[in-house]
Amino acid sequence: TALHKMEDFTFDGTKRLSVNYMKGILQPTVTCDIWDEIWNFQAKPDDLLISTYPKAGTTWTQEIVELIQNEGDVEKSKRAPTHQRFPFLEWKIPSLGSGLEQAQAMPSPRILKTHLPFHLLPPSFLEKNCKIIYVARNPKDNMVSYYHFQRMNKALPDPGTWEEYFETFLAGKVCWGSWHEHVKGWWEAKDKHRILYLFYEDMKKNPKHEVQKLTEFIEKKLDDKVLDKIVHYTSFDVMKQNSMANYSSIPAEIMDHSISPFMRKGAVGDWKKHFTVAQNERFDEDYKKKMADTRLTFHFQF
Ligand code: PPS
Repeated sequence: TALHKMEDFTFDGTKRLSVNYMKGILQPTVTCDIWDEIWNFQAKPDDLLISTYPKAGTTWTQEIVELIQNEGDVEKSKRAPTHQRFPFLEWKIPSLGSGLEQAQAMPSPRILKTHLPFHLLPPSFLEKNCKIIYVARNPKDNMVSYYHFQRMNKALPDPGTWEEYFETFLAGKVCWGSWHEHVKGWWEAKDKHRILYLFYEDMKKNPKHEVQKLTEFIEKKLDDKVLDKIVHYTSFDVMKQNSMANYSSIPAEIMDHSISPFMRKGAVGDWKKHFTVAQNERFDEDYKKKMADTRLTFHFQF
């Protein structure tokens, strides 16, 4: 069957991983195959989890959080690329390994990554009362970023044209499901658990303030100079040049940065260059309906 063939899958620069519906959300088939193991993941009390909808600012937050934990030691953060330093729970790539294996091999304290919606979070994170950082990004920029990422990343489906992708995204038929359900699910959970809920737009507008918030949440005390250093090293321009934080170490057969770089724009409001007037109206109408039952709000521009 197709499932068994996945084990033999090799990226050749053209082939892509297949996807399937799993508990109502689309996932790479390789992830669906190991779902029971993911669901039964045993978190440790000192695990720190960074949770996001894809393309909401995960890599940026990972870099900030690790620099906070290591008190601004930039060299320490350059010991390995992002995907090796932070096990990505539900991730499995033929030839590169799996997040579960990486997490199991890693000494504590671990910083883990997930894109799972709250209702699919392995229960042990809550049982162990782990600290969780959630980052949300306005859906228009999030959609544009995800579209370009799917163009360059063969581990996800071909996005089709921008017009096609626009509909696919609104229908929630992308990997990890509906953006709206994701941000709302985590928003509702945030007051019941140890969850710090941050926004990409706030990080962009006042990075030092958000770094300070993260520092407090992680229960570290850092000098003002160290905070400034962290803000500098996690700025878009510096991270784009950092080969341990820009995903350039993933084989080009999987991520082809010549199609679209992982570190693409790093901006708020770039969606305006992609959305037509009609798409924007259609988006806003749909957004109003889907977000009518929440007080959660977003900034779409500065
Ligand atoms: S992933 O694949 O889900 O882990 O991607 P993720 O890291 O969540 O999102 C990638 C987008 O975040 C941008 N990015 C940054 N923006 C501002 N500052 C910094 N330091 C930074 N680092 C990454 C990255 O450029 C992607 O957004 P777009 O809009 O595509 O540029």
